[in-house]
Amino acid sequence: MKLFLDTADIAEIRTWAETGLVDGVTTNPSLVAKSGRPFFEALKEICDTVAGPISAEVVALDAATMVVEGRKLSDVADNVVVKLPLTVEGLKACRALADDSIACNVTLCFSAAQALLAAKAGAAYISPFIGRLDDAGHDGAALLGEIREIYDIYGFSTEILAASIRSPLHVRDAALAGADCATLPAKVFGQLYQHPLTDKGLAAFLADWKTTGQTIV
Ligand code: E4P
Repeated sequence: MKLFLDTADIAEIRTWAETGLVDGVTTNPSLVAKSGRPFFEALKEICDTVAGPISAEVVALDAATMVVEGRKLSDVADNVVVKLPLTVEGLKACRALADDSIACNVTLCFSAAQALLAAKAGAAYISPFIGRLDDAGHDGAALLGEIREIYDIYGFSTEILAASIRSPLHVRDAALAGADCATLPAKVFGQLYQHPLTDKGLAAFLADWKTTGQTIV
């Protein structure tokens, strides 16, 4: 399962990329606004920092302009994935870009039927927003399972990219549902490492070691 960072903040990306466990990055217009950076400058820096897929989102609403924007984003680096909204126009643009061998990530997916359409449109990734579904009183993890089942039944190669992750439990849910990737805020990425028993156990090991008076190096 691939783990992506869901941020346009280059400092966060650099910090976590050092772990060697960051397989890609997703951005969206809100995250770009939050970064306070010029979009293309930030995108280039992210693409140079992480070798895996970097999602960059179009902002047009009609397919023709989305395709133009998508091509421009795609020209920034070989690892750019064009992010498109799950609308009629977005999926038309997805078909056109995919036919041109440009990888697309279809975003703002909230139902299995939408995910089916995205796969038929040639999406390389589908992004179900599980946190926003949970926030609205729905079951985000169940949606991931439904999409996995449908994609497996019909042999779609579209990768399921669990998005809108709020906690390590969401990452567990995504892994158990067979999601191919999950994109996490930097804070949640850090939380994945944490367990109070790990800290407690390490403190005890080190205290006992100290009593031996030995060193390893
Ligand atoms: C997906 O690619 C989106 O950037 C993201 O996961 C949205 O998450 P949010 O619900 O926390 O805004």
